[in-house]
Amino acid sequence: MSLANRNLVTIDNISNGEIEALFSVADEMADSINEQSGLCQGKIMANLFFEPSTRTRLSFEAAMLRLGGRVITAVDIGATSLAKGESIADMAKVVGSYADIIVIRHPWEGAAKVVADYAGIPVINAGDGSHEHPTQTLCDLYTLRKERQTIKNLRIALWGDLKHGRTVHSLIYALARFGATILFYPGPGLEIPEHVLKRLSTEYKGELQRCGALNQELKGSVFPVDAIYMTPSSPHQLTMLPDVNIQVELEAGVDALYVTRLQKERQSPTAEQQELKKNYPVVDKKLLTGKEFKKTLVMHPLPRVDELAYEVDADPRSMYFKQAAYGVPVRMALLALLLGAKDVAIPKADDSFARKVDYPVYKRDSGVKCLNRNCVSNQETETKYIKPEFKIVSFDPLTLRCIYCEHELEPQYIASSEWHQGKLENKKYHSANSHWVRKIKPENLIIFPSEKEAQAHQFKPSAWNRQ
Ligand code: NCD
Repeated sequence: MSLANRNLVTIDNISNGEIEALFSVADEMADSINEQSGLCQGKIMANLFFEPSTRTRLSFEAAMLRLGGRVITAVDIGATSLAKGESIADMAKVVGSYADIIVIRHPWEGAAKVVADYAGIPVINAGDGSHEHPTQTLCDLYTLRKERQTIKNLRIALWGDLKHGRTVHSLIYALARFGATILFYPGPGLEIPEHVLKRLSTEYKGELQRCGALNQELKGSVFPVDAIYMTPSSPHQLTMLPDVNIQVELEAGVDALYVTRLQKERQSPTAEQQELKKNYPVVDKKLLTGKEFKKTLVMHPLPRVDELAYEVDADPRSMYFKQAAYGVPVRMALLALLLGAKDVAIPKADDSFARKVDYPVYKRDSGVKCLNRNCVSNQETETKYIKPEFKIVSFDPLTLRCIYCEHELEPQYIASSEWHQGKLENKKYHSANSHWVRKIKPENLIIFPSEKEAQAHQFKPSAWNRQ
């Protein structure tokens, strides 16, 4: 099977079997890194980096050069026509006619999807705001596989800014898919977004336990665990987990501690940020003397700031420079596969840790907008052609997931498009909490963000709403 012409916008665009196949190609690349220069000869990669980058950008460039291809680059929005008010879609169409593959990093969540929708060539997301960073996840998984041979049943602790860290968001879904247990250790005020936790509990077969107050009682715990995602012991069984005992979990030992820095560029520089900085947890030699960290791989996507002490570098448990070095063979494999320069057999992998869900789509023009201000669908230059679009991920409560940034919202009012029977007075809107949400067929559902919007569309409150 070939991966040619595919996009990698989120980690869900690539299956477990395809990841395994990519890793076997990465092994090949690593073994003969100097001998690959014929593979992508004549191909051009456009590197569009509209946020700072060292590792991702340079490892993509090194990967393409080692494959014998060439690279064109734009690194600053100010130096491109985006600064003149050009839309991302127009830029994507143009760059798509200059290159064979695009690698994009952009501060807006969902920007990489827009590029993929319009470029007409394969697109790789190198980080879109705090949404996802799937190729970093490939490097992280590759490191875990190299060190532990498998990902299944590993206990991975995620440390630091779990709220804004895009590497963490991609990694979580991949770990759950491969059957790992995840321990969440956020810095105070930097907990994992609710929509990510919700998705973990609805789309994967493990059990999510929020620890909250319970964990205050934990004696000797180095850092408060905020939540645990326990993988099912067998993916074919329904999970029947008794109350998770965090202390027991921790004593069993952590296989990897994935440290991240405070993503200060994703917050305004306020006094609150100073607080977050002051209280940000640090991984150092002392912490690693804890018995739960005896055999722990210390990982970090880098760059580090103050959250990971330099004294850890000499410790054999430190993995972060290896992780960064794997960026070249992993990205060589990805480029060669997406450019169709290499075919690979896709092994049958265990995909049973995730549920397959086909959600209905909602894209009516009824005033519902994504609530994430940093979403590409809310930017002035993009609203001229992007129409808000959602997956209906739940009817109880009614929940929409933006197809661009994957943030969720719970709109309060609904109606049916089958209202008329010729009578205007039948045009009624209802509360989204009423039985109507299940009565109206998804294809007939109209969703309103407010009563005002419903009335602007000439709908009147139903009896239920008037009470
Ligand atoms: C990460 C990123 O850009 O999200 N860096 C990287 O690509 N290795 C992590 C970070 O910037 O903190």
